[in-house]
Amino acid sequence: MSRDRTTDALRAADRANVWHPFTPMSVWLGEDAPIIERGEGSILIDTDGNRYIDGVSSLWVNVHGHSHPTIVDAIVSQARTLQHSTFLGLSHPPAIELAERLVAIAPPGLERVFFSENGAAAVEVALKMAFSFWRNRGEQRTRFVSVQNGYHGDTIGAVSVGAIERFHETYRPLLFETSQIPSPYCYRCPLGLTYPSCDIACASALDDVLTRHEDDVAAVVVEPLVQGAGGIIAAPDGHLARVAEIARRHGTLLIVDEVATGFGRTGTMFACEQEDVAPDIMTVGKGITGGYLPLSATLATAEVFDAFLAPPEEHRTLYHGHSYSGNPITAAAAIANLAVFEEERTLERLQPKVEILRMLLKPIADHPFVGDVRQRGLMVGIELVANRNTKREFDESLQMGARVARAARPRGAIIRPLGDVVVLMPPLSIDEDTLVKLVSITLDSIEEATAGIEP
Ligand SMILES: Cc1ncc(COP(=O)(O)O)c(C=O)c1O
Repeated sequence: MSRDRTTDALRAADRANVWHPFTPMSVWLGEDAPIIERGEGSILIDTDGNRYIDGVSSLWVNVHGHSHPTIVDAIVSQARTLQHSTFLGLSHPPAIELAERLVAIAPPGLERVFFSENGAAAVEVALKMAFSFWRNRGEQRTRFVSVQNGYHGDTIGAVSVGAIERFHETYRPLLFETSQIPSPYCYRCPLGLTYPSCDIACASALDDVLTRHEDDVAAVVVEPLVQGAGGIIAAPDGHLARVAEIARRHGTLLIVDEVATGFGRTGTMFACEQEDVAPDIMTVGKGITGGYLPLSATLATAEVFDAFLAPPEEHRTLYHGHSYSGNPITAAAAIANLAVFEEERTLERLQPKVEILRMLLKPIADHPFVGDVRQRGLMVGIELVANRNTKREFDESLQMGARVARAARPRGAIIRPLGDVVVLMPPLSIDEDTLVKLVSITLDSIEEATAGIEP
């Protein structure tokens, strides 16, 4: 147990044996990052007793805070009853109940739930579902439409429909080709336009692709309202509805990836709801268990599901599954997570916090090295720039986003940037005082990281 070992001993053991995800290990090996031992509400506590606000919800997963008794008790109780039993050809009460509950809160029409363990797997399943849907109906459709700056996870299919140069370029030779449309990133419009023409032109690029490949596109894959890992790129109001309408008009499937945006993150249970979009397939993950255990799901309409119904010898089965598909302990955590949403009226109580955060962010938006502040619910991206007027980026060697995150730690907050976009994404349960503190630490950290630099 860590309690028996000093922080230094733990660090030495980590350096000797651990390989961290998305972490330049050459830097890590020379760093003294905190070793987190406990979590309480919105706070993480390290092995030396230092307390940090969990400013990114432990990679966007935590919803109701750490160590919430309802979720912890549900996990413990389920662990005593049934830890795991395969979901391949068998079933169990927690996953059945969770599927029912997810269907009840999902956008209309989604009525089948396929469980996996992480967001990337949920996306892989969505891609296979869409491809097989057409195949089972006698059509060979292999093309997916992806969005520039999109991110859907790190497995090869998910990377193929993703489009973040920095993360994905290395693996290009391994990926399947997609038709990529521009991202509605109006602050730096890929088409060189400004809002609203940027918004309209990005959507009509989809119309063009679908016209050119009318009978070839299996599905359009989008992140609703906000492209998360691409830099918290908030699409203009109405953009998602426009994209959905175009996909519908061309008769292709729409896959909406709610892995980052689902479970209240943008202010409603699912982001799609805000523009009345009902996708054919929807992926969820991250916040599904409140951030306690790895679980994800791919939801599909009856129309998609029905295309898989045939005698086994016709091979319309969805050939996908994992050893831990539908794990009962994770399902119990997810049921408890949804129960807390109801008991604590989480979404209702979120709205004032969203507005308070909007106000708190104003001084940051005025900072000479901040080009754009984007907020949807409790999802915030602060884009740092070397020059506000020209939108010139900082030299990459300065690692400005990482500098800000590093400056935040001794001040008592853990934040993790995306390049030079500082991300704030606290648990939905964060209280007002802690929210004020988080934003103030962020401003001070931007000040420290940019001190001495001429705009
Ligand atoms: C929109 C979206 N889809 C999928 C994923 C992948 O989820 P996971 O990291 O659980 O595989 C992420 C992760 O950030 C995401 O933001």
